[in-house]
Amino acid sequence: MGSVRHNSPTLVELAEEILKIAKTLQGAVPKSPTFFEDTLSGLSANDDSVRKQLIDATETLNALARGANGFNFSRISRIILSPYDAMSLRVIYHFRIAQNVPLDNSISFNNLAKACNVEEKLLTRLLRHAMVLHLFHEPKEGYVSHTVDSRLLATDSDVFDSVGCYLEDMGVGCQNIAKAMEKWPGSDERNHSACSYTYDTDLPFYAYLQQFPERKKRFSSMMRWVGESQAGSQTQITALYPWQELVNGTVVDMGGGNGQVIIPVARAYPSLKFIVQDLPGASEQGIKAVTADTQLKASIEFMAHDFRLEQPVKDADAYLICQCITNWSDKDLVNIFRQLVPALKPGARLLVCDRKWQALGTDSDVDVLEHRRVDMIVLVNTNGRVRTLDEILKVFELADMSFKFKELHTANGSPFMVCEMVWEP
Ligand SMILES: C[S@@+](CC[C@H](N)C(=O)[O-])C[C@H]1O[C@@H](n2cnc3c(N)ncnc32)[C@H](O)[C@@H]1O
Repeated sequence: MGSVRHNSPTLVELAEEILKIAKTLQGAVPKSPTFFEDTLSGLSANDDSVRKQLIDATETLNALARGANGFNFSRISRIILSPYDAMSLRVIYHFRIAQNVPLDNSISFNNLAKACNVEEKLLTRLLRHAMVLHLFHEPKEGYVSHTVDSRLLATDSDVFDSVGCYLEDMGVGCQNIAKAMEKWPGSDERNHSACSYTYDTDLPFYAYLQQFPERKKRFSSMMRWVGESQAGSQTQITALYPWQELVNGTVVDMGGGNGQVIIPVARAYPSLKFIVQDLPGASEQGIKAVTADTQLKASIEFMAHDFRLEQPVKDADAYLICQCITNWSDKDLVNIFRQLVPALKPGARLLVCDRKWQALGTDSDVDVLEHRRVDMIVLVNTNGRVRTLDEILKVFELADMSFKFKELHTANGSPFMVCEMVWEP
């Protein structure tokens, strides 16, 4: 996309900048990436920031080259036509097309259509559209083989489920945001979101999802993929906070899902004990994984608990709430934090881990866009919002003045921050 800069460089200046950055990035990897081999995974934080510079500069060049006017190629048309791009992917998801293309060979459209039980001409049109977006490839006329992207859909069930979660379950809410805003003006109730409107339910969206095992699984896989993809986010959370200061204490991970955030912490700090809390049924995959692992089994316990109710684990050393507060209104959060109070011993930590608020203009455009998108996703799902540190601290003040701010833990290149509060009654 490229953010709006009043003194934007000329096309040639941008192209020269791109050449410089591309040379640096290419020097950092064994081979230049192609659509058949992605050589950019596992970059160091430094090389990853070079990659972001390259994305930013190329997006800016792309946006300037598109221009404002005209239907063809313009910036506005790029936005309004993007649902059609998502549509082809939705069909690929629905008919499990990637799973029916051989991993190391091609297949004719005819045989693929039979295998997926789809009409051949329609499949051919949809796939030829997807191919322009680097999903699949036509090595010779009438045949389909994988690109690195479509292969990922076939081989990584978390990526595949995430496509389903975004396109079938959550993204459909986007179409109804204006209607939800008109129906519930100014409301920050969780069940007044565009998703609740779309599904015509009085339930908040996540509670609604819980009724459908397939949707629940897709959401869980999506959280895992997103977590793993955020440049090693779990490892970063392990590195962001000085867990050793808790010595051999107990950490309660509220809304911890499958334990995806604390599993790397538990591996790095085997003397700590962890209790992962979530709604009933939300941690099934995590329970299975931890039970099968001797080291983790000894240090991680799962517990069904709704964090809107009084905290049952008393006197823990730290209570972590990671990537949850964006889904709740200030009023709900005040309640959630107050429900902790009876369990807290003096000096107990409350660790709020969330995406770092980054001031516009100081970060890469691609980070800012991702951040703004998270804000839109939680808006559509649960009427939630991304908060700045000051906004988080205001909520704590409203909940109880004995929550005292201790420190903000953050690191260059990490999309996360950990806001450390201490209970000082
Ligand atoms: C965005 S996910 C974050 C999961 C995990 N903490 C992470 O950072 O990867 C939000 C989590 O909050 C859980 N959750 C939602 N409502 C809850 C409630 N009332 N009590 C406890 N957990 C809840 C969801 O089931 C989900 O696992």
